[in-house]
Amino acid sequence: MRKKVTIVGSGNVGATAAHWIASKELADVVLIDIIEGVPQGKGLDLLEAMPIEKRDSFVVGTNDYADTANSDIVVITAGIPRKPGMSRDDLLNTNYKIMSDVVGKVVQYSPHCILIVVSNPLDAMAQAAYKLSGFPRERVVGMAGVLDSARFRTFIAQELNVSVENVNAFVLGGHGDTMVPLPRYSTVAGIPITELMDKTTLDRLVQRTRDGGAEIVKYLKTGSAYYAPSAAATEMVEAILKDKKKILPCAAYLNGEYGIKGLYVGVPVKLGAKGIEQIIEIKLTPEEKSALDKSAAAVKELVAVINV
Ligand code: NAI
Ligand code: 2OP
Repeated sequence: MRKKVTIVGSGNVGATAAHWIASKELADVVLIDIIEGVPQGKGLDLLEAMPIEKRDSFVVGTNDYADTANSDIVVITAGIPRKPGMSRDDLLNTNYKIMSDVVGKVVQYSPHCILIVVSNPLDAMAQAAYKLSGFPRERVVGMAGVLDSARFRTFIAQELNVSVENVNAFVLGGHGDTMVPLPRYSTVAGIPITELMDKTTLDRLVQRTRDGGAEIVKYLKTGSAYYAPSAAATEMVEAILKDKKKILPCAAYLNGEYGIKGLYVGVPVKLGAKGIEQIIEIKLTPEEKSALDKSAAAVKELVAVINV
């Protein structure tokens, strides 16, 4: 049977994710939004691209959650993006209200789906979706680490003038200024980057990764990044639909792992048909652990504000 992916929010990230998913023929796609006409128009436009792409993905846009029924995966991108001068945290209260509106309806029509949360502030919104849905933690996962690691990988590849295919990188922690890029676990063709560049260069790339979202906002002025974010969400969709058991950095609800309890934070997980099939605990140095704890504390503060 064909797989079905619903994308809530047919703005920049949502519509571009629909584009990636349909053009990779991963699933049929339903785009839903509160704005009338936009999901319908974007959905039809994408559908009409399928003969050219030689893909049989069916794409439809709607304002009616009945059309999302029995989705295998629901990607939540509904919410406001940040503008120059705003942090992701400034979106907290508005996006929590939107999340409260969306999650109940998603769950009503797709009680067995896996939720991939994209809306910011990411870790707090993932925690909100987890609590609002009542789903087990395996079925609620947040997208951030794949994006942040992709940014780090891009900068490493550029610096060393090597193929991005050779570069692996891990960024853990919350999706904010306190995120934790891990150079020790980042490699080029298996060689740790700590052996390939000096500390000053490394620190510069780490900082650019932390500022990666803001760098794009500064250019765009009216919104935030969407090509790389939607590609990141699509990699997670693919890992789940194809049961790839892929190890990716994702926001997951920690229950004591890494010494953190009751909180969504970015860590390496195994993504497969059941969602988060394993949380991978890697050894951290005292400095790395303290950076992860600091990042978790920042998420905890946000979560306390919305009381989830
Ligand atoms: P956008 O403004 O282009 O699209 C958001 C869409 O959500 C709009 O079409 C809007 O009508 C819709 N929406 C608002 N309330 C809704 C509701 N109750 N039900 C259904 N749809 C609703 O914004 P964009 O750029 O697509 O970003 C979406 C969210 O994703 C933002 O919160 C942004 O910060 C976040 N984001 C997170 C990333 C991450 O790494 N986790 C990366 C990029 C964006
Ligand atoms: C980003 O990192 C806005 O969170 C989004 O680009």
